[in-house]
Amino acid sequence: MAKDTLSIIDNRTGKEYEIPIEEGGVIRAARLRNIKTSPDDFGLMSYDPAFVNTASCRSKVTFIDGDTGILRYRGYPIEELAEKSNYLEVAYLVVKGELPDSKHYAAWEQNIKTHTMVHENVKTFMEGFRYDAHPMGMLVGTIGALSTFYPGAAQIEDLETRRLETRRLIGKLPTLAAWAYRHSRGLPYVYPDNDLSYAGNFLSMLFKMTEQTYQPNLVLERALDILFILHADHEQNCSANAMRSVGSSHVDPYSAVAAATAALYGPLHGGANEAVIRMLMDVGSVKNVPDFIKKVKAGERLMMGFGHRIYKSYDPRAKIIKRLAYEVFEETGKNPLIDISLELERIALEDDYFVTRKLYPNVDFYTGVTYQAMGFPMTMFPVLFAIARTSGWLAQWAEMVRDPEQKIARPRQVYVGEQLRHWTAIEKRPEPLMREDAVSDSI
Ligand code: ACO
Repeated sequence: MAKDTLSIIDNRTGKEYEIPIEEGGVIRAARLRNIKTSPDDFGLMSYDPAFVNTASCRSKVTFIDGDTGILRYRGYPIEELAEKSNYLEVAYLVVKGELPDSKHYAAWEQNIKTHTMVHENVKTFMEGFRYDAHPMGMLVGTIGALSTFYPGAAQIEDLETRRLETRRLIGKLPTLAAWAYRHSRGLPYVYPDNDLSYAGNFLSMLFKMTEQTYQPNLVLERALDILFILHADHEQNCSANAMRSVGSSHVDPYSAVAAATAALYGPLHGGANEAVIRMLMDVGSVKNVPDFIKKVKAGERLMMGFGHRIYKSYDPRAKIIKRLAYEVFEETGKNPLIDISLELERIALEDDYFVTRKLYPNVDFYTGVTYQAMGFPMTMFPVLFAIARTSGWLAQWAEMVRDPEQKIARPRQVYVGEQLRHWTAIEKRPEPLMREDAVSDSI
């Protein structure tokens, strides 16, 4: 009978080790520590920069099959959720593990809406930012600052505290995000309107002017809600990993969500949709696409919105957003940049460079053109992502806090620096201290 184990022969010692294979294909890296050349040897460890082949947790939140383009939250296909659900229901699903019945949905909605207001002092922070501050930077700062308003949030081991802070964060993110936008426009802040939906209220806080009550455009409100659904979670991505890693120090969830938001800000992650628009503007017109592709293939440019660590096929979210873009354009008029996107995709999907590397459009390739048509400035794109992803971060965080196997996240390193050397007086130091490799390795 075949055994679910892995046999390893250490050729240094001739010893054989048998390591269990768990969960159909996982070995515990810690078991490698038993493979030693002598009792005081540290033992083997695995080296995995950027965690390309290392699972850092066991999770029930999101399933992705990157080869076939499958994405499910708690077992539900993303396509069904995008078509039939709404963001608050999906946030409940992501955070709690099940879709709510109508009684629980009503209570959840009420609970989130109870927490849409923020302390008035938050306005003062907002006013402290420069007139041209990037709203994502403002969001990172103000989310972190919220921890000072809720010192009780530090009791992360307490279930009721985790529930309360989860509701607060999901409730308050749109308010902080909208106020960051209003600040950048020099417009007065708009208070939440809890008669509106989650997405509708956000649009109101962004775009309300002198009218008594803001009436969101129903197509755009639904489109934004779908975009929120598509961004709610994506298993162990860079920002979820930041959330878990920072949260593993047992800091309060505001500080951890601020860290996750900072991770999302980067152009290789949530900042990619902003970078896509800049790239499309730079390409300028469909006729310049072949030249641009040449530059990408020569390694001079990155095709932003293409490629993914996990998806080696079409990102299922990109398919939905590509369709959604046209529904939005019906209302707003076509964003002319879409023609450049389509041509880039058409050429790339036929080109050997992209085909052999399995580079396909990711979620960010079509979000930018859609958001732009809806009236969002580019700097708000990652902010929209952060609002939606807050439920996912909190689900990942709660799972981490409850998991008895988790500890403070603390990777190992392979030390490649100098061996022991002793301090010498400044006048006795040899001149060429900064050797070339030292310079290139340091900041
Ligand atoms: N354009 C051109 N070439 C690319 C791209 C791209 N967008 N992405 C990957 N490649 C190439 C790499 O140069 C590499 O080529 P090589 O084998 O000749 O060296 C090969 O494809 C493999 O790429 P890696 O960088 O090893 O892939 P990795 O998994 O580390 O990176 C990432 C994934 C960061 C998303 C990358 O594809 C990228 O930079 N894409 C553009 C930024 C982007 O769209 N980010 C959003 C991701 S989705 C999200 O975070 C919500």
